Amino acid sequence: MNRSFVVLGGTGDLTGRLLLPGLAELVAAGVLDEPVAVLAVSREDWSDEEYRDWARTRLAEHAGRVPEAARERLIGWLGYRHGDVTVPADLRAALERAGGVPVVYLALPNTVFLPTLEALRECEVPEGTVVAVEKPFGRNLADARNLNEVLHRLVPEDQVFRTDHFLAMQTVLNILGLRFANRVFEPVWNAQHLERVDIVFDETLGLEGRAGYYDTAGALRDMLQNHLLQMLAVVAMEPPAALDARSLAARKADVLRAVRPPRDMRRDTVRARYTAGTVGDRQLPDYTAERGVQADRGTETYAEYTVEVDNWRWAGVPFRLRSGKALGADRHEIVLRFKPVPHLAFEPDGAGPEPDVLRLRLDPDGISLELNLNGAGDPFDLERRSLAVDLPPTPLSAYGLLLEELLAGEAALSISDVEAEESWRIVEPILAAWAADEVPLLDYPAGSDGPAGPA
Ligand code: BG6
Repeated sequence: MNRSFVVLGGTGDLTGRLLLPGLAELVAAGVLDEPVAVLAVSREDWSDEEYRDWARTRLAEHAGRVPEAARERLIGWLGYRHGDVTVPADLRAALERAGGVPVVYLALPNTVFLPTLEALRECEVPEGTVVAVEKPFGRNLADARNLNEVLHRLVPEDQVFRTDHFLAMQTVLNILGLRFANRVFEPVWNAQHLERVDIVFDETLGLEGRAGYYDTAGALRDMLQNHLLQMLAVVAMEPPAALDARSLAARKADVLRAVRPPRDMRRDTVRARYTAGTVGDRQLPDYTAERGVQADRGTETYAEYTVEVDNWRWAGVPFRLRSGKALGADRHEIVLRFKPVPHLAFEPDGAGPEPDVLRLRLDPDGISLELNLNGAGDPFDLERRSLAVDLPPTPLSAYGLLLEELLAGEAALSISDVEAEESWRIVEPILAAWAADEVPLLDYPAGSDGPAGPA
């Protein structure tokens, strides 16, 4: 099939920082060996040459790891068309120029997803067209339903790709291997043996010039509604019959359907925003003093909530999800804490040994299992030791891998319609409680452990 790639929002931050570098990686890796028509569409009145210059600079900035020859090869495939992505005539002209069977990627602010999809529908896209939509998928459940409805009128569900690059991260994919290609973990992967699960994505990064987007989203919509719930879904899902899009989506959807939103918002959710402080060697102002931030929006830069998965396997196990910006350390991990052993023959030393902990770490990726072993001195003393494996960096970035799947027409690393709606169902009561000020908006100094203490 003669695929083309049409990027709506082709001069945006996402295109320059992640999509073009991802494509360049695929060229360098030989995944894209035949030229692919890549057409960027945006409002700037630029020529192809001007666009290529812009792309060259972005690639030098964000894809320095990719050999220059591969970057230049990609630049040679790029075309540009100025237009309004919500105007059918402009889109029709863009699709004609791109030719082939397009992957249409909406690298746009989510406020224009709906009018853009409606405009696309009027264009009668070629058979086999794939439509990729970035996150957040709307602002609430009603938006997600509307978007799904329009998407379904545009192309079949298996040609829709709701992007979540966390699904293409090595550690997230590794959960599948760890759980379903080994015998040792699955028998203990349940409420009988696990005490709690923490899914943590603490970032030292601040706003990075993204206030325009971030201040209207906040940590809950930016991270916990999508990425962290997807991680929860992969950790908690039942074994799929096959690793195809259909089976994975069905098993993840089952989990999300079983997630009960927090019952007590004040106890089970935390929201906060950073005040001035130092992160590493960077001095950050108060979040509200950052350029582009509107203080009275009350946007949180830190969000946390604890939910339960109401099903046979997980009843009673708390899953805590937390993510924040401008924190003291990058902590990206899924931590599974086991229950204590039923009987301890060892002389308890104080409160007794810590239960076992399995830690799945992202970026740098690694897995460790923290255990109690016999000490080196007294034969019956216990020592804490760890079985650890560090995973080598992957050849492709998460976006590189996503784009590879997308261009191959594979939707296994995408979020399905049901998952997108279920994820909003879970967070909507939290958003409502926060909007009604039922939960106080706390402060934490930039560079600290956050309002709730260490992860
Ligand atoms: C993005 C969020 O989706 O994921 C960012 O919008 C966040 O706020 C980022 O920093 C984290 O992913 P990565 O791959 O950049 O670590």
